[in-house]
Amino acid sequence: MDINEYGYIKIKIRDLFEINLDNYKSNQMIRRLDGYISRSNTPNVEKYCHSLEHDQNEREKLLDFLTINVSEFYRDASHFEILQTNILPELLQKNSRLNIWSAGCSNGSEPFSIAIILEKLSPFQNHRILATDIDKNSLKKAQAGGPYNINEIRNVPDQILNKYFTCINGKYWLNNRIIQKVEFKHHDLTQTYYENNFDLIICRNVTIYFSDEAKKKINNAFYTALKANGILFIGATETMIDAAAMGFRKVSTCFYKKPDPVSTLKAAF
Ligand SMILES: C[S@@+](CC[C@H](N)C(=O)[O-])C[C@H]1O[C@@H](n2cnc3c(N)ncnc32)[C@H](O)[C@@H]1O
Repeated sequence: MDINEYGYIKIKIRDLFEINLDNYKSNQMIRRLDGYISRSNTPNVEKYCHSLEHDQNEREKLLDFLTINVSEFYRDASHFEILQTNILPELLQKNSRLNIWSAGCSNGSEPFSIAIILEKLSPFQNHRILATDIDKNSLKKAQAGGPYNINEIRNVPDQILNKYFTCINGKYWLNNRIIQKVEFKHHDLTQTYYENNFDLIICRNVTIYFSDEAKKKINNAFYTALKANGILFIGATETMIDAAAMGFRKVSTCFYKKPDPVSTLKAAF
């Protein structure tokens, strides 16, 4: 795919899905799209784009391909362990009702894992868990609480599986009690509007596909969206090289704190 063809498909994707590929790593995206279109039965990018106009099924497939929406409950279980034993209890000591955002939540496995953990840590509290994604199909599955396949629930302990899930014909459905704890919304992280006042923001395996510039903007926006002492939880394969320059303090692998300016000032004297 040459640069003109990439420009052409970028416009098509923006018009069809409101996704701006300028925010994603262009070399990686060109390579992926090139392979994807070669595997389709169309001879070139222009014909492929034309086929998108009247083939709903192909549009759905392309959206799935672009958003890479794989997820699972308790993904990277050791980090969920840190979240459950250290991060959330510390946040709960400061604030009994938490405001949490799972950004790029895919099929809901991530925010639902948080909701299940909070059921255990503070069973009678009505926390707010906002979960957003650019992919409306993923959000539909999340809002329905399934169906989840065996891979998506493989890290869920049996006791939790029995308590909160129902298995129908080999597929797992989450109980309403947990579904209703999460508020799902469509949101594009590359847009400027972010809510704020969050105690915890979870954004894992989302910005790895973004350009360095877009990633930096998003992490800065997360910093602004967090309360003082709030935590940003990132993916296991991600690093935030410029975390300190943005103002974050690393508290553990994958966890970054927005320090409270008052205590930072006191510590300086
Ligand atoms: C690999 S999944 C990660 C899901 C979950 N956070 C996890 O780690 O299991 C990446 C998700 O990011 C979403 N995404 C990609 N670009 C986005 C954007 N610009 N704004 C919001 N979500 C986006 C995709 O739709 C997909 O659901």
